[in-house]
Amino acid sequence: MPLIRFGVSIEKDLLGKFDCFIKDKKYTNRSEAFRDLIRQELVQKQWKGNHEIAGAITLIYNHHKRELVNKLMDIQHDFGTVIISAQHIHLDHDNCLEIIAIKGSPKDAQKLSNSLKSVKGVKHGTLSMSTTGKDI
Ligand code: NI
Repeated sequence: MPLIRFGVSIEKDLLGKFDCFIKDKKYTNRSEAFRDLIRQELVQKQWKGNHEIAGAITLIYNHHKRELVNKLMDIQHDFGTVIISAQHIHLDHDNCLEIIAIKGSPKDAQKLSNSLKSVKGVKHGTLSMSTTGKDI
């Protein structure tokens, strides 16, 4: 993709804040930070619309709660078309970390994430809303 240069008019104060922000985030130049901010907005738009998205759900739970493990498994089987991979890590004697990679409709992904996180006994859950990388 060819790069196009363009001028941006911006208030001095706002640019100062932007420069602080990119310094904190370890960007080496304004252009890359600016491109990432635009992509971040585009990915958010993909999640709000009907665009195919990708991402990951993480869950922390105690596997000794048998009913909980069965419930999590049932839900995952119901959403088989959205789940592309799942990894189970035994953190210690009691706690498990599950990482579920997802790809598909944003609505299904949200529904799956909410269903898993709300199961009684899940200690923590996150949904990382990312992109397939197409169209951004
Ligand atoms: Ni485990």
